[in-house]
Amino acid sequence: MRGGVFTALCSGAVTSAQIVLADQSLVHPEIAEIMAIEADADYGAYLASECTACHSPNPQGAIPQIHMLPESYIVGALVDYRIGERQHQVMETIAKRLGEEEIAALAKYFSEVE
Ligand code: HEC
Repeated sequence: MRGGVFTALCSGAVTSAQIVLADQSLVHPEIAEIMAIEADADYGAYLASECTACHSPNPQGAIPQIHMLPESYIVGALVDYRIGERQHQVMETIAKRLGEEEIAALAKYFSEVE
């Protein structure tokens, strides 16, 4: 990712919007802040019981699988729901209730669990 931004900057031919898209944390400093938290996967496992009712390892229908997604992707998605950048009534309600430590712990847990 970092290399991509660097290359993009050096090529000089891209717009700032493209550079921002290359690194989500530039759009939302909150994502970088949460990624910097030393996350506790055990706490994440404890909190995850609320999530796995829907996000089972083999979810059905419109529910996406979140097991084994990259940690930064999960943090990014939850921040996007929290700030309303990504809209989905259930996930917005859930994400708005979560604190930064909780998001960090959940992202660590789900990124590691199969
Ligand atoms: C009532 C069911 C339900 C519960 C409970 C739930 N989710 Fe979700 N979640 C969904 C649905 C449906 C979507 C897809 C929404 C959309 O289309 O944006 C989703 C999307 C997501 C995404 C984005 C996935 C992607 O592929 O982009 C993440 C990350 C996520 N949920 C995490 C969580 C976490 C963490 C919890 C527990 C704190 C949780 N969810 C609890 C139903 C649920």
